[in-house]
Amino acid sequence: MTLEVLFFGAGAIGAFYASRIARNPAVNVSVVCRSNYKAVKETGFSITSFQYGDYKWTPTRVFDSPSSAVKANVKWDYVVVSTKALPNISDDSKLIDGLVSPKTAVVLIQNGLGVEQPYATRFPESTILSAVTIASCAQPSNGHIKHNRWTRINIGPYFHHSSPSESIKSRATSQNARFVDLLTKGGIKDALADTHEKLQLVRWHKIAINAAMNPSAVLSGGSTNEAMSNDPELAAHLKGVMDEVLTTAPKIVGVPFPSSFATSEAIISSTKKNSSGSKPSMLLDWEGGKAMELEVILGNPLRIAREKGYEMPRLQSLYALLKMAEGNREARKNKL
Ligand SMILES: NC(=O)c1ccc[n+]([C@@H]2O[C@H](COP(=O)([O-])OP(=O)(O)OC[C@H]3O[C@@H](n4cnc5c(N)ncnc54)[C@H](OP(=O)(O)O)[C@@H]3O)[C@@H](O)[C@H]2O)c1
Repeated sequence: MTLEVLFFGAGAIGAFYASRIARNPAVNVSVVCRSNYKAVKETGFSITSFQYGDYKWTPTRVFDSPSSAVKANVKWDYVVVSTKALPNISDDSKLIDGLVSPKTAVVLIQNGLGVEQPYATRFPESTILSAVTIASCAQPSNGHIKHNRWTRINIGPYFHHSSPSESIKSRATSQNARFVDLLTKGGIKDALADTHEKLQLVRWHKIAINAAMNPSAVLSGGSTNEAMSNDPELAAHLKGVMDEVLTTAPKIVGVPFPSSFATSEAIISSTKKNSSGSKPSMLLDWEGGKAMELEVILGNPLRIAREKGYEMPRLQSLYALLKMAEGNREARKNKL
């Protein structure tokens, strides 16, 4: 039987992975678009990629909203959420309510911590799969997806309760393996299946990098990661933030980072050599006057740590400063 996969949020990351899974004729891949709806409905997506070449992709179905997708009455095997995670602005779990049945696995390809919680609460009978990617993609114009570099994506089941039953575990693990297989068949050679605990460590490790680089790029007036890493004073700050997260996370997850995970020194040393000039996503959002993923990259890690009795003062300063900066910007917009 043909597998039905729906991507909710067909922007840079979502449309890239969707276009790879769609290489497999045994899978129907559909999308829910928003501002790129007209362009995608008319001409589909054009993908440019150094690694995969340039190609066009026409999704099986293109919807302009989740409610239009509900009307199609499809039993989705996977609903992949690849919107920006902005829980202070939109509870996206509510938007996909009519699309998720107990047989559906909801896959979250989003940065940040605690992104799974609203989905696990709203869909207690469905599997939640949590995914972290280091791929770099952009959508320079509606329907044009630019895959810049890297493809690695780690995916693991997310269990809301600390001891899920064996049947829940086994169903989630097989849905996870199947999704990884879809990506692998689409040419994503470094799609990796992880356990719940390992995936949470991967999330924390990426948070260490994002929480250090992203806010600092904005607060330092628009710096690239490379420029910050090559400035001794700023590099010391980045290392301080990363170390704070990397020492707190294992206490929260209950297992140490595997020795293969990069240290803060290794991350700074490789970032010093990254001459692509690319800007972190939070800086691009700030410069574009858009909402930043502050809550999932800074606020949630702080709150999750506090619940366990740990403070992360460097992260707290970055969060407080940027939250106020964003609030001031929005207040100025409202006065215009
Ligand atoms: N881009 C990367 O290289 C990269 C790398 C690693 C991780 N990530 C993470 O991946 C996630 C997605 O990032 P992204 O860069 O792909 O963002 P993006 O390009 O802004 O894509 C998100 C898409 O979701 C759409 N969307 C949001 N709300 C919607 C709604 N209610 N209905 C329909 N569509 C909706 C957006 O539409 P509009 O255009 O109308 O807003 C946009 O097309 C984020 O958590 C990000 O941190 C991104």
